[in-house]
Amino acid sequence: TTVTYTAFDGTETTVEGAPGASIMETALRNGVPGIVGECGGSMSCATCHVFVSDETAAIAGEMSEIEDEMLDGTAVDREPNSRLSCQIKLVDGNTYCVTTPREQV
Ligand code: FES
Repeated sequence: TTVTYTAFDGTETTVEGAPGASIMETALRNGVPGIVGECGGSMSCATCHVFVSDETAAIAGEMSEIEDEMLDGTAVDREPNSRLSCQIKLVDGNTYCVTTPREQV
């Protein structure tokens, strides 16, 4: 299970993720910049905002109403492909691609 993070400047970082971990946790564990994750994944900070690829959107699961509301308060304005990366849990064998915004706070 790999996650590729593309920074706003185009820098790509690909890391191995553990099934069950979130895309936010995987970034923090591996020192990938661009995701803060201040609240630890309890959906109260929106500092884990990412833009997901179409392929990742298809395997990321449904967005909850709370996630949808939190995405209205991100530092960089949301786009149609915005998600909170703490809400996307890795599933074994999948490949994930996200782009991180210019700022999170
Ligand atoms: Fe705070 Fe995702 S880590 S909302």
